Amino acid sequence: MFSISKIFTAAVIASSFLVGNAVAQPRPTKSVSPFVAQLIEYRTPLAYSTVIERLDAQVNKTGALTFVTKFRAAKTREEQRSLIADITQGRNFLYFSEANHQKWLDIYFPDVSHPGGTIYTLGNPTFAADIIPLDYSTSINIPLRFMILEQVDRSGTRIMYHQPSSIFAPFNKRDRQLQTYIKSLDTGFADLFEGIIGY
Ligand SMILES: *[C@@H]1O[C@H](CO)[C@@H](O)[C@H](O)[C@H]1NC(C)=O
Repeated sequence: MFSISKIFTAAVIASSFLVGNAVAQPRPTKSVSPFVAQLIEYRTPLAYSTVIERLDAQVNKTGALTFVTKFRAAKTREEQRSLIADITQGRNFLYFSEANHQKWLDIYFPDVSHPGGTIYTLGNPTFAADIIPLDYSTSINIPLRFMILEQVDRSGTRIMYHQPSSIFAPFNKRDRQLQTYIKSLDTGFADLFEGIIGY
């Protein structure tokens, strides 16, 4: 199919010949790779505020709030590792950021009472240091994200995320070590949420 951009590119290449610049640049490429992701969802009768409170404790939100600034300023690996160890205290993940959709929706639609809904990102750079060098493309999923959602009728809370091993599936399938690290993220997520809701 002819597209405007192809015709335009052809014109640019032709004109570069005309001005005596015969070096044709390689064409840009695009690839599309479908993959099947698994959506994991836990439901609990626990109140949204209780789930958030337990989660924030598990990922040490308070301690982690200044993490990014300190981590950027760290000058050595030892410094980086000690910042992480100080926040995680043996737990797997630490808090990075959140997007609270209830807050802005309550302002945008002031007459509606919205259920709680927060997207968190969390991770652990010591895990990422194992994973990323094995395939830099894996970084698209790092840090990991998940959602805590209050039931619309306030009867409880849902926790939703994409199974890490499923969203990392397009990357370096033959690397056993990478697969092992990524499987441990599945376990880490399950342990975190199952601990919080007592599954
Ligand atoms: C949370 O992180 C801070 C470091 O910012 C640390 O001092 C504190 O002990 C951590 N708390 C827990 C419960 O791990």
